[in-house]
Amino acid sequence: MRRLLIAGNWKMHKTVPEALELVRELKTLVSDVTDRDILVCPPFTALYPVGRELKSSNIALGGQNMFYEEQGAFTGEISPLMLKDVGCSYVILGHSERRHIFGETDELINRKVISADEHGLIPILCVGETLEEREAGETEKVVERQVREGLKGLSPESELVIAYEPVWAIGTGKTATPELAQEVHSFIRGILSDLFSEEKAGKTRILYGGSVKPENAKGLLEMPDIDGALVGGASLKAESFAKIVKFDLEE
Ligand code: PGA
Repeated sequence: MRRLLIAGNWKMHKTVPEALELVRELKTLVSDVTDRDILVCPPFTALYPVGRELKSSNIALGGQNMFYEEQGAFTGEISPLMLKDVGCSYVILGHSERRHIFGETDELINRKVISADEHGLIPILCVGETLEEREAGETEKVVERQVREGLKGLSPESELVIAYEPVWAIGTGKTATPELAQEVHSFIRGILSDLFSEEKAGKTRILYGGSVKPENAKGLLEMPDIDGALVGGASLKAESFAKIVKFDLEE
């Protein structure tokens, strides 16, 4: 059985005091949750204080991006060693905002995935089609390319997480229906099976992301191939994020 993973992607939000207030509240709200993994990915400036606050809690820490080198003349970048240093165990890579606003290519993202893995960080590889691609019937082609290119050279023993985030559903309030998301998730699992093995595909968590909210989380998370959520907007308030974490535990 795959353990659910509910991850919050805070994007470029929260100063240090705001970040601490949010995780303090969140810790209390989810302290009784033991059967699923919870992750928050604050902006770089808040990682260290948030990491300290989360020590010996049931909430893990992740970065939203990183560069693949350990150190050097790479102005403005953060390395895998630095993420490890502040207590991260996961890193989001290839988020659609990185791909579309900052021009990240599959090749660059692949180098980051390999580097994250080599440094003991679990990569969360984000994939997803734009509205134009979906309307042109290219969803599978695009997602397959992003998964295959993104995971090139990754060892079958390495732990990884995939996040399927249709670009048209991110921050727009438009969620994919559970059935539509399930279809793509099952397609992705097929690619993983082909790339690695059926066993590995069966163990790998595939998260859904794109306007996940307390109101729609249950429908999505109950689908057989949806193993968690990558939550943007709704992760910025402790109450709504906790409700998503506990989508099936409370009425
Ligand atoms: P959203 O963002 O939940 O605000 O749509 C999700 C994401 O981009 O990871």
